[in-house]
Amino acid sequence: MARRTWSETRGLVTGASSGLGQALAARLVRAGATVLLTGRSTERLAAVVGGLKSEGADPARMITVAVDLTIEEDRRWLFTLARERFGALDLVINNAGVGATGQFDTHDASVLRHVFEINVFAMAEVCRESLPLLSGGRDPVMVTMGSINARRALPGRSEYSASKFAVTGFTEALRIEWRRFGIHVLQVDPGFTDTPFDENVVVDTARVAVNDRRTMSPETVARATMRAIERRQRQITLTWQGKLFVLTSTVAPRLVDWGLTRWLLKHFPDAPVLRKNRGNQNRT
Ligand SMILES: NC(=O)c1ccc[n+]([C@@H]2O[C@H](COP(=O)([O-])OP(=O)(O)OC[C@H]3O[C@@H](n4cnc5c(N)ncnc54)[C@H](OP(=O)(O)O)[C@@H]3O)[C@@H](O)[C@H]2O)c1
Repeated sequence: MARRTWSETRGLVTGASSGLGQALAARLVRAGATVLLTGRSTERLAAVVGGLKSEGADPARMITVAVDLTIEEDRRWLFTLARERFGALDLVINNAGVGATGQFDTHDASVLRHVFEINVFAMAEVCRESLPLLSGGRDPVMVTMGSINARRALPGRSEYSASKFAVTGFTEALRIEWRRFGIHVLQVDPGFTDTPFDENVVVDTARVAVNDRRTMSPETVARATMRAIERRQRQITLTWQGKLFVLTSTVAPRLVDWGLTRWLLKHFPDAPVLRKNRGNQNRT
């Protein structure tokens, strides 16, 4: 298989103002690609590009555009700009997303809607808008950002897990559908990664501190993603703990349910429903 020529790659990275998207965009730029970086915050995008320039990156290889991907006009503007500047795209990293923690019954309907707006609907529309540009690209690739929660849901993350399962379902279908256009589709499923993800959640009523578990660097995810693109892999799961968790969930789902119930009790000691259940047990 011919090795990908990164210096000829015209890429778009969503969520490039922070975390995984920032690391992916930086790695692409360092490899010589020309990258359109997008996020909501103009300041954060400027800081990412400023950091790369100070490392010696060619400013001509980086374009930033601040858009809210949940807004149709913003998406249209983003792809108009991509067409004007690049003509076509060889790679799209469809990474922007948010989380939400807490038990579903304690949240109002806006949480599920907010999470789906960006993680699912915007992600899918970015695919739709990308198609004409990727169709004209060289060895084109679409990368969707899943999660370990795209393979096994976690309690206290119902909205997020549902959105990431939707990413899996959507990506699996698209992978086959887009064969007729010659577009390779890869889903990346990282485990806990050291990014500001927790600071940006829509709602956090879980009081679950997983910061100490965020042992994987975003650079590790970026390196593995680029390798997976070169190898034309269909899906990757990152961290051996994540792989083990997914495997155990497949072969012994009841055992994992049991473990997650204990985990939930530990992390939601004052959750209303659990309290009531314990109280009922005491009375009998
Ligand atoms: N960190 C982890 O442990 C982990 C693990 C598995 C999967 N993931 C996935 O990786 C992706 C990136 O997460 P991260 O950890 O890098 O989090 P992050 O540091 O919070 O970055 C999220 C990015 O998404 C952008 N974004 C959010 N809402 C947007 C909107 N409406 N329109 C446009 N851009 C928007 C943000 O832009 P602004 O900052 O400019 O608002 C930011 O660039 C997500 O899809 C997440 O689900 C993360």
